[in-house]
This record gives sequence, C-alpha cells and structure tokens, in this order.
Amino acid sequence: MQISPLTAKVRDDFPILKRKINGHPLAYLDNAATTQKPNCVIDAQVRFYENHNSNVSRGVYTLAEEATDIYEEGREIIAKFIGAADSGKIIFSSGTTESINLVASAWAQPKLKTGERIMVTEMEHHSNLVPWQLVAQNCGAELVYWPLNSESGNSSDGRLDLQKLDELLAESVKLKRKIRLLTVTAVSNVLGTVNPIVEIVKISHAHGVPVLVDAAQAVARMSIDVSAWDCDFLAFSGHKIYGPTGIGVLYAKHERLEEMQPFQGGGGMIRQVGLQTSSWAEAPQKFEAGTPPFAEVCGLAAAVGYLSDVGMPEIQQHELELTTHALKRFAEFKDLELYGPPETIDRSGVLSFNLQNVHPHDVAQVLDESGIAVRAGHHCTQVLHKRLGIAASVRMSFGLYNENSEIDRIFSALDQARNIFLA
Ligand SMILES: Cc1ncc(COP(=O)(O)O)c(C=O)c1O
Repeated sequence: MQISPLTAKVRDDFPILKRKINGHPLAYLDNAATTQKPNCVIDAQVRFYENHNSNVSRGVYTLAEEATDIYEEGREIIAKFIGAADSGKIIFSSGTTESINLVASAWAQPKLKTGERIMVTEMEHHSNLVPWQLVAQNCGAELVYWPLNSESGNSSDGRLDLQKLDELLAESVKLKRKIRLLTVTAVSNVLGTVNPIVEIVKISHAHGVPVLVDAAQAVARMSIDVSAWDCDFLAFSGHKIYGPTGIGVLYAKHERLEEMQPFQGGGGMIRQVGLQTSSWAEAPQKFEAGTPPFAEVCGLAAAVGYLSDVGMPEIQQHELELTTHALKRFAEFKDLELYGPPETIDRSGVLSFNLQNVHPHDVAQVLDESGIAVRAGHHCTQVLHKRLGIAASVRMSFGLYNENSEIDRIFSALDQARNIFLA
C-alpha cells in the first residue's frame, strides 16, 4: 500500500487501526460519526486517573488543586486552538448537541417572542434543528429555512447562496418578523460542503442577526478562528476531533454570555444559594452545573495538542488529496450518485452517495465484509435527505490516517455489491 508522508507519520499512533475486521485490515472511513483515538489521548486520561483524580473547583487539598489546574489549562488550550481571545468564553458541555441545546434554552428561549424567527439551513444535522424546533414551539416563534441551491428536480450542488441569504434576511426585516439567530453548520456531515462562514457572519451581522456555527465536522478538518470568523457562538464535540466522548465545547462572545440565563441548576454554577432563590457564578462556570467531565478535558487537550503537532494545514491538505482521489474515482461510475459539490471547491472529505438500485444498508454490509467501515442511513439529516429526494445514503468520511488505497478498496467492494445485488 502506498502511504502518504502524513499517514506514515500518524497511523502507528492509533492502536485500533491494527485490527482486522472479517479477515481484512480495518479501513475506518466513518470519521464524520466519530474519530479514532491516538495513544496520547488514551494515555492522557489514564495518567489523569492514575495521578490526579479528584473533583475540580471544590477541594483545597493538593490533588484537587492539581485536577482544577489541569481542567482550567484545558480550557486555555481549547481557547487558543479555536482563536478565542480568552478562556472565559469556553464552556465545557457533553458535546455539540448539548452546546446547541444550551444556547437554545439559556439564550434564545428567554429572548424569543411570538412571531419571531430562527433561521436554519436545509443541511443541518438534527442536533442543530430539533433544539430550535422545540424552542420555537415553546415561544410561538417560527423556524425558517435558508434553502440549498436548486438545480433541476431535487438536484442541488449542495451549496448555499449568499445572495439568497441577504434577500431572506432583508425580507424578514420588511415583514417585521425579527430573526433572532441564524444557525449554520461550517461543514455538512452529508454533503461535505464547506460553508463560507466569514461571509455568512458578515451578511447576518449587517442585518443585526447573531450567528451560531455548528463546527462538529469542521473542527477536525480545518483551522478555526472564532475571532476572525466573528461568530457569536460555536459548538463542537471532543469525539469528532480524535478526543474522548462525553466532552464538548461551546464558545460564546462576551456580550452573548452576558445575555445568557443559567442552563441547568446544580453544584458549581452558583454564587449563593438561599431557601428560595440563588445567585450565579460568573461565566463559564455559570453554565457548567454539576461535576464536569474533567478527565475528558484532559483527553481533549491531548487531542488538540496532537492535531497542533501534526498541523491543521497539513491535515487539511491531506484531506484535499483524499477527496480529489475519491472524486476522480466517482467520475468513473455512472451508477453512483454523489451528493454535494462535485469538485473540491467548497468541499471536504465527507462524501455521501448511492449505488443505483441497491439499498445503502446492503452496500454498507458488503463493505463491512471487506473490513471497510462506512455509514449508511440518513445521518441525522432527514430534512436534507428529503430535499435530495432520497431516504438514505452511504457515507465515507476521511480522517488524518486514511489513505487513497482504502478509498480504492471501497470501489472494489462496490463491484462485489453490484455482483451480489444486480447480477
Ligand atoms: C454537523 C453535526 N452537528 C452536530 C452533530 C452532533 O454531534 P454530537 O452527537 O457529538 O453531539 C453531528 C454529529 O454527527 C454533526 O455531524
């Protein structure tokens, strides 16, 4: 197998990649669902439990102070990684889903009035859709959609039109239907589309609309700079960035933090508790009720350190090379329908497709027999799949350890699927 310089450097860091599945070397191509963990992440958590384990922000004994320092250092490492000016704007959550729910409950719900609007796109993951449906229903508000570009029928190049955004926002102003928030993914978990966040934020802000960026897919694929992006909120999960499960991040601008009510009540988020009422700690602790995931923060900090050592520009370049190769292979087959941008412009290494007349689950099962892990289903984007006129798709999604030869194995296994189901 021909190995790229980056892959040669990193593959040995991931113990799970040594596994064989159904007699074949594992080709793990479901990185949009979750990423594998390098030894340094696994070791960081083990070392924490072996040496420093104790609850944070509570005890005054040595272990507790060590654990608290590690936890707060983790906050600083994350702030630096995403270009946040200070760590006070970093809230730890359980994942992207909880981060978005936090904004929906603690920021949007107290503000939203009947008839007001939240704007989402047709390509959002359910985690960036359902919380807004719930809050809109609670407040008598409305969810409005910034649609995908349309070609003929259901067909779309998987991109969003900035001119259309400007028009939709202007129309809402004219109708006196205030849009409280635009919430958009930076990278689609199905189409692979990379959305132009800087331009989106500029247009939205020009209409007085704050922006939440769902960076669940973007964070492992490109450098993120919340200060340059100027977004109001940004959410991501540790497990999609080669870190642990159970840990996520919400970044919020200072003025948005000031506007936010508590999310959940409990230990750690209070200043004073009386018989009937309480007062709150400052942000970010105000939004971190209960024992936080401190061992996971340790793992996440190790993951971020690992990615910084490998280099985000190098990771992005590697993904571009994999995507270029995959697109070339797709072009060879007329019976494969690929969704999302057909070329590498505005596209990342998340590629969803269908093999004509074969159910995506059947395709995924045949691939599994060859040791290839891909996802089949609606990928938590039923609105998008409906928009594309399909119920499900097969998705390959790249990580920094993937190789062109693994992509080629998919195309060979697709031949087997054709032989089994279409012969
Ligand atoms: C774009 C996007 N947003 C949100 C999520 C939800 O992430 P989590 O399940 O880690 O909270 C995902 C997960 O696949 C995603 O791809």
